[in-house]
Amino acid sequence: MSSSFIERARSVLAANDRGGYTVPTDRLYPFQWNWDSAFVAMGFATFDIDRALSELEALARGQWADGMIPQIIFHKPAETYFPGPDVWRTSHTIPTSGITQPPVFALALEFIAARAGAEFTPRIAALYRAGLAYHRWWEKARDPEGRGIVAVLHNWETGRDNSPEWDEPFARVPQTTTTTIVRRDLGHVDAAMRPRDEDYRRYIHLVDLYASLGWDAMAMWRETPFKVADIGINAILGASEEALGRLAKRFGSEAERAEIASRRARLAKGLAELWNERIGLYASRDLISGKAMDVRVSAGFLPLLTEHCPAEARQSMQQRLDGLLKANTLPVPSTLVGEPGFEPKRYWRGPVWAVVNYLIARGFARQGMGEQAREVDEATLGAIREVGFCEYFDPLTREGLGGGTFSWTAAIALLISEDRMALAA
Ligand code: DGY
Repeated sequence: MSSSFIERARSVLAANDRGGYTVPTDRLYPFQWNWDSAFVAMGFATFDIDRALSELEALARGQWADGMIPQIIFHKPAETYFPGPDVWRTSHTIPTSGITQPPVFALALEFIAARAGAEFTPRIAALYRAGLAYHRWWEKARDPEGRGIVAVLHNWETGRDNSPEWDEPFARVPQTTTTTIVRRDLGHVDAAMRPRDEDYRRYIHLVDLYASLGWDAMAMWRETPFKVADIGINAILGASEEALGRLAKRFGSEAERAEIASRRARLAKGLAELWNERIGLYASRDLISGKAMDVRVSAGFLPLLTEHCPAEARQSMQQRLDGLLKANTLPVPSTLVGEPGFEPKRYWRGPVWAVVNYLIARGFARQGMGEQAREVDEATLGAIREVGFCEYFDPLTREGLGGGTFSWTAAIALLISEDRMALAA
């Protein structure tokens, strides 16, 4: 891997570094985002453990007393993003949004811990405790009925904001808001690559509702019109719970190890229920109507990351990947080509995202499917080398879309490059 490519990837992280935390990209996303920073921390860990740990420590500074690590932490004010702290109206000392995002935190921490020297042990131990509190929050606030499947109460929590999976549950959410909506994103990115205005009205309706409930987790659970078991979050949480269990062997107590093991077993059972026979892939479920979503999305591959992924599921995913490669489609479109909601350029309705690809490839590798893992990694790295560190890629034309110079795309470039160098050594 050429050193100039690696240097360019590192310089994207340096350009987006705001001193101890990294913004996803300048202007469009001028604060710290939860799952972006977890990937960025892994990217930093390929060359700077101290800086990797500060990224997670900055996230932990935004953690709520109940354990939630928020989606956005507003460390410093900025005028280029909507909705800001005045819309969220939460009460944390460092202003934050009131929802969370995919829990990649423990995966990142384990990745860093595996390569950190003894001098970093106290910092890693403190972050383990933040991760444990976060996972306890998921169980208590988002699976209060103990069914082994956690729910999201806002589409922004999924990280896949406008996936067609949310179209049906959103039909129940009114478009009325008490907040004036100012689409600052459209000043940075073409409207055709972003969610629509009616989507935003629903997103903000939910923010207004939860703010009126004082962000009380149980009141939100009772009152929400949007309660979805997102396949991405459930799979990532399953994998993260496994990572936390391994970290607990070094940093936790016996009681904590038992607690993590029991959550992990419940999640594995829950994931099994999210296999969708009709579409031959894992799928999200609307927890209000009880309906499984018959939409094939890239996140439906993520249970590959977990201990629960039977042979039937693995074969089906392998066939889907083969189909994409044969059709010369850049794998893996966020919404698979041929789905009624597929739009190749609109955010999570079709474009390919490097971070999801990275997880899918690690999932194939975990299942012993090295060839598939390599194919996904090659495709991801090839697209980044060809068009740059952009936010997402058109799966049909390979055009780079959304924000440019994106931190997590650079982080993934570093991670895949490092793996390839290790293979070549
Ligand atoms: C946005 O504002 O587009 C973000 O995806 C929310 O996390």
